[in-house]
Amino acid sequence: MSAEKLVVIGQGYVGLPLAMRAVEAGLDVVGLDVDADRVKRLASGESFVEDIPTDRLGRALGSGRYRPSTEYTDAEGFDICVITVPTPLRDGTPDLSFVEQAGVGIGPYVRPDCTVILESTTYPGTTEELLRPLLESASGLTSPGDFHLGYSPERIDPGNPTWRLENTPKVVSGVDSVSLARVQGFYQRLVERTVAVDSTRVAELTKLIENTFRQVNIALINELTMLSHHLDIDVWQAIDAAETKPFGFLPFRPGPGVGGHCLPIDPCYLSWQVKRRLGRQFRFIELANDINHEMPEHVAQRIMAGLNRAGRAVSGARLLLLGLAYKKNTGDMRDSPAVDVARRLQALGAEVHAVEPYAEAHQIPAGVTVVGLTEREVRAADAVVVVTDHDSFDYDLVVRHARYVFDTRNRCVGEMVETL
Ligand SMILES: NC(=O)c1ccc[n+]([C@@H]2O[C@H](COP(=O)([O-])OP(=O)(O)OC[C@H]3O[C@@H](n4cnc5c(N)ncnc54)[C@H](O)[C@@H]3O)[C@@H](O)[C@H]2O)c1
Repeated sequence: MSAEKLVVIGQGYVGLPLAMRAVEAGLDVVGLDVDADRVKRLASGESFVEDIPTDRLGRALGSGRYRPSTEYTDAEGFDICVITVPTPLRDGTPDLSFVEQAGVGIGPYVRPDCTVILESTTYPGTTEELLRPLLESASGLTSPGDFHLGYSPERIDPGNPTWRLENTPKVVSGVDSVSLARVQGFYQRLVERTVAVDSTRVAELTKLIENTFRQVNIALINELTMLSHHLDIDVWQAIDAAETKPFGFLPFRPGPGVGGHCLPIDPCYLSWQVKRRLGRQFRFIELANDINHEMPEHVAQRIMAGLNRAGRAVSGARLLLLGLAYKKNTGDMRDSPAVDVARRLQALGAEVHAVEPYAEAHQIPAGVTVVGLTEREVRAADAVVVVTDHDSFDYDLVVRHARYVFDTRNRCVGEMVETL
């Protein structure tokens, strides 16, 4: 008997790890992506996702059971299809066009008894109200009944060596009990634990609760940090102390703002839907967005004040930014607050140099000079700014040679260090 055929639509941070895991579990996998360059690189064994080392991709290709492709015709005869395409915002509102295109693309290949699963983060109702009609009209089949349909939110945390796809519990749902059984059965082959919920809407909301919880708590700590600065209290020490309480407290740490494809975006999917369906504002989300958006400006102002105290102006100053990615140990610069900080400092007249070992050249913001983290660079800088605290940075070198460090991550200790 031939292996089951899985199609993963979207071969990015979410889709590629899923495809690799499925190959390892014995499935035949087509990795579909509209980005021809990405597909070409994957086919030649080049991984651009940090969590997928080249040798793991090489083994998948070598097994003959992983085929990256740009052609939806390669989906012909699939048993299971998982959609992992982007769900960004356009002018502040959800942009479901990628999910729609994926639905239209895969619809003609939907056949009786196959299973389609949406993983992209989205507002409750998307699977049944938006995706299902597209699949039904393209295939002439219905779900529930002819084919199976479900939603399973992604919990991938790029760069996290502890919690990987296989050991992070996976929430699963279906449009009926048969669909749920199919969706759950599929993921049970890939992950250690699945958690079934009653409906696709509950599963869709689960993901938004997780990200809204983080976004709101980060905003709370960020606001507290800005206020503590004026009160002259060390907020970092207070959080460390609060963390010793063994119940009822979860620590969140301040930072230069939120970035990436999740926290600045996903909660807006929820607030947009609440507004649309109920005509009401989701106040926590709006407030958290405002506070988190303020952070890059706060960082720029603090650096300006720090230079000023040393009798230097930000205009004409040479600044060395450590990290441009939104998250440590990754090269993901989507919506990175570090880029916002760099632009604000440039607008104030600073010459910005940056160390970003994970990013590719085309991602670097205009006017920013990429350099290595060397004694010479550190000495030449009027200020070193720790924006993204990659573990690979030599923080001892920084404190040994810097004149002034503005540290948004609390990684450096020394007399010349000012912490966010
Ligand atoms: N990156 C994360 O850490 C993370 C975590 C949890 C959830 N998510 C969610 O998962 C989804 C995917 O995110 P990602 O980070 O993997 O995005 P990504 O941009 O890394 O990858 C998405 C891929 O989909 C491709 N694509 C777009 N439209 C397509 C189409 N019609 N057909 C085929 N391929 C298409 C793109 O070319 C891209 O390569 C989003 O909804 C995101 O919110 C992401």
